[in-house]
Amino acid sequence: MASQPNFPPRGSTELFIEYGSPSLSLSGQMAESARSIALGAVLKRSEAIPEGTPQVRGYDFNKGLDYPALLQSYLTTGYQATNLGLAVEQINAMIEAKLEPLDDCDNPNNLNPCQRDKTGCTIFLGYTSNLISSGIRETIRYLVQHNMVDCVVTTAGGIEEDFIKCLAPTFLGDFSLKGKDLRQSGINRIGNLLVPNDNYCKFEDWVTPILDQMLLEQKQQGTKWTPSKMIARLGKEIDNPESVYYWTYKNNIPVFSPALTDGSLGDMIYFHSYKNPGLVLDIVEDIQRMNSQAVFAKRTGMIILGGGVVKHHISNANLMRNGADYAVYVNTAHEFDGSDSGAKPDEAVSWGKIRMDAKPVKVSADATLVFPLLVAETFARKFHKLVPGSKIE
Ligand SMILES: NC(=O)c1ccc[n+]([C@@H]2O[C@H](COP(=O)([O-])OP(=O)(O)OC[C@H]3O[C@@H](n4cnc5c(N)ncnc54)[C@H](O)[C@@H]3O)[C@@H](O)[C@H]2O)c1
Repeated sequence: MASQPNFPPRGSTELFIEYGSPSLSLSGQMAESARSIALGAVLKRSEAIPEGTPQVRGYDFNKGLDYPALLQSYLTTGYQATNLGLAVEQINAMIEAKLEPLDDCDNPNNLNPCQRDKTGCTIFLGYTSNLISSGIRETIRYLVQHNMVDCVVTTAGGIEEDFIKCLAPTFLGDFSLKGKDLRQSGINRIGNLLVPNDNYCKFEDWVTPILDQMLLEQKQQGTKWTPSKMIARLGKEIDNPESVYYWTYKNNIPVFSPALTDGSLGDMIYFHSYKNPGLVLDIVEDIQRMNSQAVFAKRTGMIILGGGVVKHHISNANLMRNGADYAVYVNTAHEFDGSDSGAKPDEAVSWGKIRMDAKPVKVSADATLVFPLLVAETFARKFHKLVPGSKIE
């Protein structure tokens, strides 16, 4: 076996070498240079932080409980609280743009096939189905009741659950309730919410005669149904101010749901297609109606809660105008898997779905926590500017 070099000499803690005069300790020298390297690294001098950069500061409860001030402190709190604060600023910018009067060259003549009145900023609102199952439905209803957003996109559950709630309630349950027990009891679980199967039976009783009537109109009057026209019709039929789609119908806010058959409504359309066949829903006409909301807009803003179809459908429509001017995403998805759900706004900039000079914001959070706060600090705060003359406080 090769012998190990004896360096430094065993038993010696210090090696002395001649370095002129006086003699220096090598280990002392090494320690000094290590210290100065570390000092240089740890205490590296800073360049000046640009003037006006906000300082981190949270809410001081010694000032008493002031919810608006608490919410405003989020902007300087850091992490997702700061993103929430930035999202508030982004939505307020959409609202201010919306309130700007149109000038002559804005072509107020309505080219929009849905005949929705043009404003300074067309605001798209998208949300996943589960948010209508949750109490976020009431926040969404407030927005459409007061005509504050211009175009809605959701998935099938986001349509039917609104109508079903007008027929029978959804209940609070628990994430841990066992699927087998629930199935045996005829109860369905959405996260920690519970929907009795009977609710869907009531929905079938309500919707089937409307499908019959729609088919009759298609046959006798040549009505061309699309998913958005069907949603408006259902909103008219429900005739209940608790409903989101009652108000979108009343206020002529188009609602798009390109995958309208992927839910209980699809089940009903399926059963109906055997009992009374022939109903046609045309998604081609709807893509023209949807994209027109972006193409004929002066400016656009996107507020998208959750991912999947709703996120992409709104973004893709905005590609038709070279990108949205404002964008807020609220979702829990991440980008590492390449999903569109998780894609950050900058990925949409690369596709031309958000403008290069926009200041989009993504809040990584459960929308049930975030959205009521966002609405409180934006649409609700600007209520009287958005809805002049309203008696509601
Ligand atoms: N109540 C229901 O959820 C329900 C009912 C019937 C049918 N469906 C059908 O299920 C299919 C899939 O549903 P989907 O496309 O609406 O969305 P989804 O439930 O598949 O969610 C898509 C993504 O949105 C994000 N997301 C969802 N909930 C969120 C929240 N609370 N906060 C933040 N981010 C959130 C997550 O990243 C999620 O992966 C649809 O076709 C829908 O019609 C759903």
